[in-house]
Amino acid sequence: MPKGVERFYHLTNKTVSLLVDCRGLQPAIRYFGPLLSDVNERMIEQIDRHEAPASLPSEPAITLSPTHGMGYLGHPALAVKRDLDQWQLDLELVTCEVSKRELRFVSVCQKRSVETTHRLQLAEEAGVLTLTVTLKNLDPATPLGVDNCLITIPVPDHLTEAQEFTGRWGYELQHNRFQLPNSSLVRENRTGRSSHHLHPSLRLLSNSTGLDTGDAVDIQIAWSGNHTIRVERLADGRRLMQAGELLDAGELVLAPGASYTSPECLLCFSKEGTNGLSQQWHRLVRRNYTSATASAQQFSPQQAIRPVQLNTWEACYFSVNEANVIELIDQAANLGIERFVLDDGWFHGRNNDQTSLGDWKVDRLKFPRGLGPIAAYCNEKGLEFGLWIEPEMVSPDSNLYRAHPDWVLSFSDSSLIEARHQLVLDLSIEDVTEYLFAVISDLLTDIPISYLKWDMNRDIHQMENAAGQRAVHQQTLALYALMARVRENFPHIAIESCASGGGRIDLGVLQFANRFWPSDTNDALDRIKVQAGFLSLLPPELMGSHVGPSPCHLTGRQHSMAFRAAVAFWGHMGVEADIRGLTENERSILAAAINLHKAHRHLLHQGRYIEHEPSEQQAAWSIVSDDQTESLTAVALLQTPRAAFPNRIRFGGLNTFSKYRVQLIWPQELTDKQADYRDTLESTMYGGDWLQNVGITLPIMHPESMLIFHLTKS
Ligand code: GLA
Repeated sequence: MPKGVERFYHLTNKTVSLLVDCRGLQPAIRYFGPLLSDVNERMIEQIDRHEAPASLPSEPAITLSPTHGMGYLGHPALAVKRDLDQWQLDLELVTCEVSKRELRFVSVCQKRSVETTHRLQLAEEAGVLTLTVTLKNLDPATPLGVDNCLITIPVPDHLTEAQEFTGRWGYELQHNRFQLPNSSLVRENRTGRSSHHLHPSLRLLSNSTGLDTGDAVDIQIAWSGNHTIRVERLADGRRLMQAGELLDAGELVLAPGASYTSPECLLCFSKEGTNGLSQQWHRLVRRNYTSATASAQQFSPQQAIRPVQLNTWEACYFSVNEANVIELIDQAANLGIERFVLDDGWFHGRNNDQTSLGDWKVDRLKFPRGLGPIAAYCNEKGLEFGLWIEPEMVSPDSNLYRAHPDWVLSFSDSSLIEARHQLVLDLSIEDVTEYLFAVISDLLTDIPISYLKWDMNRDIHQMENAAGQRAVHQQTLALYALMARVRENFPHIAIESCASGGGRIDLGVLQFANRFWPSDTNDALDRIKVQAGFLSLLPPELMGSHVGPSPCHLTGRQHSMAFRAAVAFWGHMGVEADIRGLTENERSILAAAINLHKAHRHLLHQGRYIEHEPSEQQAAWSIVSDDQTESLTAVALLQTPRAAFPNRIRFGGLNTFSKYRVQLIWPQELTDKQADYRDTLESTMYGGDWLQNVGITLPIMHPESMLIFHLTKS
């Protein structure tokens, strides 16, 4: 044992324990789970197993970053090379620094001049452990190529299932639960953004884990570029999970003395099923991601809340101009909307998606007086003004590209692949980010903008820079640096992260963003599932949810205004439809929903989220105040029910001993039977135990409709 290093470390916070074993050459996690009292060395040693038949005399530990040559036969978490030689690393632990909730292990491989630092940090309250590994090239003369630099966590035996959040454009974050394979599960995202298909997270569950009970572990990688998550079962039966950035050959080379730190991997443990995980993530994000909340307070200091917004995309697409925008602002103000976001189409020559990205000057044909008067008009009407921008992209048909064809990501002699008629700027070129910062800075200085919708509308299919090197790593860091610079210089600006809908939803970009656009679909039925996926990992105040047009532009489905508005009510609410074409009835329903959202957003954006047991036909969830005095519950009927009545709803999160008043606050217009139902429901008080165990009968509902209940403690 190196001097000053303990054999074991036991780190705790209010909820969890972490045990790290340092008896070997490298630190290894032996336990991460519910808080343990009274831990002694003998107990930890008992975790060691006997020599298994046809195996090594002592089982190689699953260290934080196992490598080749340690006796371990799984996928190496660290793989490096100097020149073309790829050899085993003999890392030896040298020091460990311990502070209240943090461990920092430094190890060195003298032969290969490589140093690693593993940092493990427990959250203050939530059951969350954040891990990073830093790799340093100690050689004074030669560079070090890095092929892999992942974090490794042992998976407890009883977690035999996984749940991923997967999908596609227009239908992101769908739950997919499955049995872990006997070999390896490998999820590799190579899209150059966090992706629609493979969200940078994975959930591990026991076969009996449900919504409220059972063990569950989540991992989230705080990174918006390529990533990998692997779960491997070794021949000896042990399972491990590895996660981190997915590096391509030659993508990361450390100069002499240089180092690389992996993205943060956040591990969350719950003994209270998947709801326990979501609640802890929400708490952690609210506490730690200050830009996500602090700025929200700056841009609406009067209420410290998130303004209801109107977005022009599905209202006008590229045909925005001063006249229609003024009309929309007038109508938005009448509906009680508080922020107006001018989406794509406002800049020079942008009449369709084939042109002009990069030329970030206002189109004077559409806005002869510029955007200043538009923003000023918004402010006069009591609305904030927000603007769409897609800084990382350029259209081949643009002045920017004509002037700087060498600014795009591409190796000189490859032919360029256009996606949505656009190319990706190489952000590692300093002139490019200087140009982008200047453009953004001019816009934010000249126009009273308080919000940017920061979009990114294609995968990065060609990842090479002009030197022929793979460049997603650099690109992602340069994006973060640009966003950080914008935030530093314009701290009053809120940023929405969008990438063709939900292509960039992750804890990495959340350091700079305040809101996500989870999906381009505004189909209320599909949106219920997208939103359920989102809320599994992130809190509702970060979830843009808009009332879209009917029929829905993506799916062609038609939904009533009452249903569309009820679904949008549950996040950071907005409207994205041509409100000029609404009927009087639709207008009044929408205005009522916006009012209702405003009346309840203090709870929606701070409360505890609970998903209720779904059925094929029904979805339900609640948001409950921390002091259990108030809650909101949604019940959505997704299909034509087989039985006449929907299932009863059993509420959750209430105080068993308190009495509650239950009000059906949505929809406004009820059928006669529903109106009778409401009166009966509201004529009595119910005990928390009754509401949670017996529940309440629901009225007959139409398919594709939603009821919202408000419970208040007497
Ligand atoms: C992406 C976004 C949309 C909209 C368009 C504009 O698709 O996801 O919300 O902003 O770009 O081109």
